[in-house]
Amino acid sequence: MKPTRASLLLPLVMVVLAACGGDHPMSTFIAHSDLTREINAIYSRIFWWTALLFLLVQGGLIYVVLRFRAKGTETANPEQVHGNIRLELTWTILPIFILMHIAIPTVSLIFKSQAQTTEENAVLVNALGKQWWFAFEYPELGVTTANEMHVPLGTEIEVRLQSDNVIHSFWVPQLMAKRDMVPGRVNHIKFKAEKLGEFYGQCAEYCGDSHALMKFRVVVDTPEDFAKWIASQKAPAETEAATAQAGFQAFQGAGCVACHAINGTTAAAVIGPDLTHVGSRTMIASGILENNEENLKKWIKDPPGVKPGSKMPNLNLSDEQVASLAAYLQTLK
Ligand code: CUA
Repeated sequence: MKPTRASLLLPLVMVVLAACGGDHPMSTFIAHSDLTREINAIYSRIFWWTALLFLLVQGGLIYVVLRFRAKGTETANPEQVHGNIRLELTWTILPIFILMHIAIPTVSLIFKSQAQTTEENAVLVNALGKQWWFAFEYPELGVTTANEMHVPLGTEIEVRLQSDNVIHSFWVPQLMAKRDMVPGRVNHIKFKAEKLGEFYGQCAEYCGDSHALMKFRVVVDTPEDFAKWIASQKAPAETEAATAQAGFQAFQGAGCVACHAINGTTAAAVIGPDLTHVGSRTMIASGILENNEENLKKWIKDPPGVKPGSKMPNLNLSDEQVASLAAYLQTLK
């Protein structure tokens, strides 16, 4: 049977319609912060202005084509005209107004979003782009974590974006615009989250092998839950003494101490993610694996196999070592 035109169009229509429904964590059309709401307002302003211009220009074109088309009765060229000051002024000044209408709010929002915070209860976060994960420090609250940034609802958050390696771009589509993390400088981005829950983030600047796997999450808590989270992150991990001792021995024996820190132990290196409360995170390996014992084993056994180019090498640990490390890390809540 020969495919009809309609049957060929069907898959296209389905793909387009599929984009309309459902929960799209990476969609920039869903705004859950003051910043993304304002960005979307400018976006729709630009969209409607361009839609109006499109209709005016195409309408004019169609009108001229129909009105002045050759009817076959012309004997000579039409009258040749040249120069029309009023028309030329109109089509110069009108676009200037339209472009200003777009440029002024766009540029002022860019400046506003990167201004330093002035609010007293604002939360400051240093976000550091690594290859390929994110470190989050709360300098005023004394907390360091990785790949999961908690923020309180309705509070101004100022993120200071930094990198000590290559350029990354920090992006949480529903909470903030993309902004680069450039070695040697500090960029700022400021927002207030307006919805509780977990929001997906992703590095948005090609930065090497596992750029596409450089994910993170922003967890928006109520202010009370945020205070609880901060308190739990500040405390050393709650692990039974016996488990802790055996686990830490495995940790030391495998050489993990060379790169990682665990509060309350002698491990204090800052090359890899801080693992003090790794068991409390929902994801591991920069947001690509759910945090459970099975995945931890998989990850410890062969990091570059999970995340190509991973700076954590395959240490050729025995299954026994892997199992005891995974069990220990799970207890670090
Ligand atoms: Cu970091 Cu791409």
